[in-house]
Parts: sequence; C-alpha cells; structure tokens
Amino acid sequence: VDITVSSTGGNATNGHQYGFLHEDINNSGDGGLYAELIRNRAFQISEGFPATLDAWHPINGAELSLKNLSVPLSDVLVTSMNVATPSEEGEVGFFNDGYWGMDVKASKTYSGSFWVKGAYSGQFTASLQSNTTGETFGTVNITSQSTADEWTEHEFELTPSNDAPSSNNSFALTFDASGIDEGSLDFNLISLFPPTYKGRKNGMRVDIAEALEGFHPTLFRIPGGNMLEGLTNRTWWDWKNSIGPLKNRPGFSGVWGYQQTNGLGLVEYLEFAEDIGMEIVLAVYDGLSLNGDITPEDQLQSYIDDALDEIEFIRGPVDSKWGAVRAELGHPDPWKLQYVEVGNEDWLSGAPEGWDTFKEYRFPMFLDALTEAYPDIQVISSGSNYDGYNIPKPAGGDYHVYATPDTLVSEFNKFDNITTPHIIGEMAAIHPNGGTGWDGPQQPYPWWGGTVGEAVSLIGYERNQDRIIGAAYAPIIRNMNRWQWAVTMIQFTADTVTKSTSWYLWELMAAHPMTETLPATSQFDPLYYVAGRNNQTSGHIFKAAVYNSTDGADVPVTLKFEGIVSATSGELTILTGPEDPYGDNDPYTGVNVVKTSKTTIRSDTSGTFQFDLPNLSVAVLDTSPL
Ligand code: AHR
Repeated sequence: VDITVSSTGGNATNGHQYGFLHEDINNSGDGGLYAELIRNRAFQISEGFPATLDAWHPINGAELSLKNLSVPLSDVLVTSMNVATPSEEGEVGFFNDGYWGMDVKASKTYSGSFWVKGAYSGQFTASLQSNTTGETFGTVNITSQSTADEWTEHEFELTPSNDAPSSNNSFALTFDASGIDEGSLDFNLISLFPPTYKGRKNGMRVDIAEALEGFHPTLFRIPGGNMLEGLTNRTWWDWKNSIGPLKNRPGFSGVWGYQQTNGLGLVEYLEFAEDIGMEIVLAVYDGLSLNGDITPEDQLQSYIDDALDEIEFIRGPVDSKWGAVRAELGHPDPWKLQYVEVGNEDWLSGAPEGWDTFKEYRFPMFLDALTEAYPDIQVISSGSNYDGYNIPKPAGGDYHVYATPDTLVSEFNKFDNITTPHIIGEMAAIHPNGGTGWDGPQQPYPWWGGTVGEAVSLIGYERNQDRIIGAAYAPIIRNMNRWQWAVTMIQFTADTVTKSTSWYLWELMAAHPMTETLPATSQFDPLYYVAGRNNQTSGHIFKAAVYNSTDGADVPVTLKFEGIVSATSGELTILTGPEDPYGDNDPYTGVNVVKTSKTTIRSDTSGTFQFDLPNLSVAVLDTSPL
C-alpha cells in the first residue's frame, strides 16, 4: 500500500482520545478499584438489598446478629452488628473474609477503623490471618474507649510481620469477654485499607489503579452506565449520598446485583481523574431509570437542579453554595469539567417512551438549563445521531458499540461525515464473528482478533478527532470472583491483576497522541490507518491495523510524509497476537499472548518509510525524538 501524508490541511485534535467508563459492575468499584478490604463493612440496606451478615463470621462462639438500635451510628447507617459473648471470660469476636480474600504483605501498613458501642474496658485485638492455617501475619492491640451510650470510633495501624503465601486471608477483631458489662458489644463501619494509589485517604487499590494509569487514559466517563440510572427512579446514583464522611453515606442499591457502599463517591472519582490526568465526562441523572420509570415534565426540574448543584460542587467558586461544600471537604480549588452527559442510553431503558420523552422534553430542558448556566460546557446526549436523534445544537452525542470484530471493522468510516461532536462512551469487541449481537454470548476475555477489530474502529475515530471527543472502553475491570460482564480490559482477584490483549492495543494507541491529523491517501482494507503530527514533540505519527489480508499475507507499506527530511528516524512498534485469533490473556495462566516488537527505522532520501505489517497486527510509527 502506498500512502502519502500531506504536511498541511489536517484538523486539530482535542488531546483526550482514549479512556474508559467506570461504574460499579463486576465488583469493579467495591471490592475492586476502591481499596477497602472489608466486605459489607456497614450492614447497609437499600431498596434492592436487605441488611445481611454476609462476609462476617464468629470467633470462639460469639453470637453475631443484626440490630437496629435506638441510637444508630448515623441517620443512614442504622443497622449494626451485635456481638454477644457465650461466657463471661475469654477472647471472642468476629472475622471478615473480604472481597473473596485479602492480599497481606509485610511491606504494607494497613489503616483500620471501627465504631463500637457498649461499655468495655480492655483491649481490642485486630489481626490479619490465614483462613486455611489460622496463622496470624500481623496483629495490633487497641485500647477500648467504648462506652455504653455512644458510638466511639477506634483507629489503628497494622503492619504484618510476614507475607501471606496466598490471598486466602481474613481480618479478625476480638475482645476480652471479661471486660464487658452487658454481655455484648455493637459494631459498625469496620474498615481496613492497604496503602492506596497516591496515598489518598479512602482511595484506590494500587495495582488496579496502576494498570489503568499504565494505558495512559485521558478520558474518564463516570458514574455510568447503568449505575447512573439506578433500578428505579427512587434508587438512581445520587451523588449527594456519595460525598462526606463515610458514616453519612447510606450505600446504593446496585444495579448489577449487589449492594454498594457509596465509598467510591464523586470526590474519589474526581481525585482519581486528577491523579491520572483524565478529562471527565460527567453523566447526570435525567429522570429515566432502568425499569423504565420516566419522570414527567412537571417534575423534572428537581433533577435539573440536582445536576446544576453537582456541576457547582465540581467547578463552582468557593463562595457558591456547593463550591463551599467542596472546600469544606478539602478541595477549595475547582476541578476541571468540560463535558456533561445527560442520562445513559435513554434509547434503551423503557423504550420507546424513554427515548421519545428524552427527545420531546427531557434532553431539551437539560440542554437549555446547562448551556445557560455553563456556556463553555459541552453538553452530550446519551444517544447518538445513529440512534434516530437529530441532536440539537450545540449538543453532542454518545455512541455505544459492543460488537463482533467484523462489525467494528465495518464501522471504520462511520464518523467520516458526521458534523455533530460525539463521544464513543462505551466500546469493546465482545462477541465472536458470527455471534448473535447485543444479547449473544460474550467471549470469556478480550481476544486478539477482537482487539484488532477494536483497533480498526479506534483508528476510524482518530481520523475524525476534531469531532470525536474520545473513546471509552467499557466495562473496564472485572473481579473474577463475582462478575456480570465477561469482556473487560483488566481482570483481577484479591492479589492479581491481568491486562488483556485490548490493554496492549489501547496503551499503544494512547501513548502516541496527535495534536493534528493530516490528510493521507485513502486506500483501506486490509490496512486501516490514520496519520498526523504531534506539534509538541515535532513527531509525525502513523497508526495502522491489518485485518484479514488476502491469504493472511504481510502487507508491504510505503509511507511518505511530505516535508520530512531524508534519514528521519522513527520508532515502529508492531503488536501481533497468537496464531489462533481467539487466543487471549487468561488470568489463571498469566500468559500474555501479545507480542510487541520495537524497531528504529529510517526514511529514505525522499522522506519515505518502508516496512511490512503482518496480518492481524496493529502498528504505530512515531518520529518523535525518543
Ligand atoms: O458497560 C456495561 C453496560 O452496557 C453499561 O452499564 C450500559 O450503559 C451498557 O448497556
């Protein structure tokens, strides 16, 4: 394939092409990115889930029961765990087996806390211990301050003296039965954190956060996804329940089959975005929930006000009502917020009324109010032009695609002629070719053939970067112990993190941002490509994928960048996969099937590069100085 890239005539890009959606699915929040180790730490109740003693177990015959005391820990944490002692002497208590295990390392100091009510003079003992051998890896004593009438918080730090050989461990808390007056003590909000990403209090799990940071994401769509919408219009993800002290966070009736803690809240999301350097796409609830509950026009204003409050909380001045609350929570400086999306997939929930009412009054009302208050914010509809909506100006759209690799390849030029700006708010190859579409079976993990299909669509988006605001992989991470959606970029257990084949693709694409695309010869299939320049590094960039070449042959590429001088050197990175296109990175073997080759190549006297690309490969040539 002979390609000539012009030196002028391209379009400026926006600098945040690659990122991800995060919502709590697959325990990707609680028990995932959110570093809390204790499962069911506050016995939270919601419309969808009753309080339970899940994950809690007695030690030495203690009797554990749930109680709604007349003096609860807070207005929202009303249920607590009563621990009754079987006799008047001896060490008794409970343990928690975490989100299916706990990683215990001597190099880490764990920060814990718990609230207790009941007269007790003596010591509490907190430990990290093996579930199989009973071995204790670390222990600390905490002097009781507990009294009969009030809840008292106790904090501690625990540094294990040796590493646990596996993650099959739990956290135990015991006390001396002879020191209590009433035969039992009441506990709530029992928490334990390992060191977190960037040391943030109530922060993120380091290995998962680093795997995310490692693919250089610059776009972060939160908080959903279905999580935003909630199961019903009484249980949508209300950001106001997710800020402030943990004891004031009621928990959330998760939409993916489990109770959520609200621990990973709006501020935690914003801090994480700040730590990684990601542009936020904030989705606001627009009065439509997953069960098809639709808010009538005359009741919608309260949700619009709520969205305006949320934006003020994020970027309003400190002397505004919600800016002041942000400052009180330790963030006087506003965060950056440029993109606000109204709802999530309004074309899907409660169809067709959900979509009809979105177009008739819900989106126009939000668009008017948000644009009037914040003219610089790009408001985005939760559906795209392809969902049958002629999106009113100045709004943008959101396109979601979960598809086969063949479909993703066929969509290479989908956005070439679109004028409305769009995000690709959710995308991934999830079905094998010949699969049955949205509802069909997914592959067990991202697989190499699917990853190359994704590459072709991503290259198509990059060619239109002046209008495609960015693309988000979704869903992003999966806890292998409890999940609802198989294909995710990253899989994890209590002590492992596995990067899928798609992680390697997205990392390569995101590592070479262009500030400007450049017009190039358009001759596609089986080679799909985009070319441009990065004016900060002065590098020329070419990104390509080969999908289904004739007889699987290599594709010879002759690439001329106009204006490039003789003997310009560039780094050519080529990703290839296993012989079987269905090969994947199975978290249980830990084998990475993606092969990365990096070579330095030079242009000839006419500024032309020559190289071959194998079938089912992805490549980037970048002439930026190393
Ligand atoms: O990413 C998983 C789900 O797919 C999202 O919650 C929803 O928006 C989409 O249907």
